[in-house]
Amino acid sequence: ADLYGAERKNSAGVDLTDAELMQKLAQEITAAASVAATSGPIIGGVEKVGKAEDIRNPAKTSEVVGKVVQASQADVDDAISRASRAFADWSATPAATRAACLDKAADLMESRRAELLALCIREAGKTIGDAIAELREAVDFCRYYAARARADFGAPLMLPGPTGERNQLMLQGRGVFACISPWNFPLAIFMGQVSAALVAGNCVIAKPAEQTPLIAAAAVKILHQAGVPGDVLHLLPGDGPNVGAPLTRDPRIAGVAFTGSTDTARLINRTLAAKDGPIVPLIAETGGQNAMIVDSSALPEQVVRDVLISSFQSAGQRCSALRVLFVQQDIGHKLEEMLSGAMAELRVGDPSRLKTDIGPVIDAEAKSVLEAHVQRMDREGKLIYRTKLNGAAGEGHFFAPAAYRIDGLNRLQREVFGPVLHVIHYAADKLDDVLNSINATGYGLTLGIHSRIDGKVKYIAERLRVGNAYVNRNMIGAVVGVQPFGGEGLSGTGPKAGGPHYLHRFATERTLTIDT
Ligand code: NAD
Ligand code: ALA
Repeated sequence: ADLYGAERKNSAGVDLTDAELMQKLAQEITAAASVAATSGPIIGGVEKVGKAEDIRNPAKTSEVVGKVVQASQADVDDAISRASRAFADWSATPAATRAACLDKAADLMESRRAELLALCIREAGKTIGDAIAELREAVDFCRYYAARARADFGAPLMLPGPTGERNQLMLQGRGVFACISPWNFPLAIFMGQVSAALVAGNCVIAKPAEQTPLIAAAAVKILHQAGVPGDVLHLLPGDGPNVGAPLTRDPRIAGVAFTGSTDTARLINRTLAAKDGPIVPLIAETGGQNAMIVDSSALPEQVVRDVLISSFQSAGQRCSALRVLFVQQDIGHKLEEMLSGAMAELRVGDPSRLKTDIGPVIDAEAKSVLEAHVQRMDREGKLIYRTKLNGAAGEGHFFAPAAYRIDGLNRLQREVFGPVLHVIHYAADKLDDVLNSINATGYGLTLGIHSRIDGKVKYIAERLRVGNAYVNRNMIGAVVGVQPFGGEGLSGTGPKAGGPHYLHRFATERTLTIDT
């Protein structure tokens, strides 16, 4: 039983250590990759056709993965009008019926595993392992929010009152929610936002990242097939200025769920504050400048393994990824030497191959921002190690993981969204300076601590303002319902995705007092 008694199970996923199973899955993924994918505005359950643009594989840019038709201003208006009209009926639909749609969607995603994995790999450049985790998280979000909705939205909360008076508190949808998502979790975060908003009783306009509309379209079609009415859920592919901005400016939008960069969250926040009409909530999950603190009691082999996963898995394109490693100076050089050895073993390349550790970054722009950053680091820091591409470059957006020693956090004003690790050595008596400098970034997403001294772990965890802290393990891959995820400060507004309070922010509370 879950917190508040809701029954639920996480998806079984796939056993990555089962070589035979993985080989078979890789074959299924290859076969599924030939299925043509499309994404257009899906309004009222109908996908619009028209002038389409190519979506290309970031690992092999000559390969067209599918076609996208961008939404127009008229599509934005049409979708919001239809969703506004559909709201009353959807909001009055029993929570159990809405939850059943999510459970069905979860089952459908599992039954279409190979097709969805192939899309995650070919459209977003995910490795097979990352794609499996992505699908699993999307399934978990649907089942978890379905269970939470049944528990919290199913029946009103009965409250005390004098004789002859009945008081009850109900959670209800707010209206039309805009769900705006990033490319780095094109299925999991997209599904997480949309499923939460829907099951809480809202109609939804989903705007996926411009890099990954094909996976989003597959997810929306699955939700429609699972029973969500066409006018309740609409998809508007397009970029921020042309689709995201007009959507958030529209006075009929009753709430915005956004995951992406801190800069965009600020922009949306200003837009919402400036517009006429009701005061609209913003649920923002944004970036991080995530640190790990390693003291000299830590186990070096374990630290190296966890640093490798935290910094470089998913090509470092996770908001949770480790960016700054603080190492107590007496073990700093030894750890750097071990890390270099481990980085030499990383295999960068085609993400559809089982043996690849690190796939491409998402696009040419991301790669050039990262290359500019390492050029600056070459001048301002000391290179510890840069993994060799070993011919992986080809026509894909491959970027070799790098680690630099720097002298302080002031060298890093912004999140560097890719596989670049920064290492800072600290003296044992300067731990407080480390903690202050981490808090001073203003970000507060994830934190890693490697120490065998319980008192030290407690001291650090109590002082750092972060949403998710991990001790003596890696710091990525929060599991739905197990590690509710989300940060504070520049990293987001909360509530935590995959946590028991998430749905409440999508809802409004109504008190009903009846004189009997
Ligand atoms: P981004 O901010 O560039 O884009 C995110 C979404 O916002 C996209 O759909 C984009 O089209 C849209 N957008 C852009 N401008 C807009 C505007 N003016 N109005 C409305 N919508 C607009 O971010 P990204 O590059 O897609 O994603 C990477 C970022 O996301 C990183 O900073 C990462 O840390 C963050 N992220 C955070 C979490 C979390 O849970 N905290 C999870 C994943 C990613
Ligand atoms: N929820 C994702 C993670 O924990 C971002 O890595």
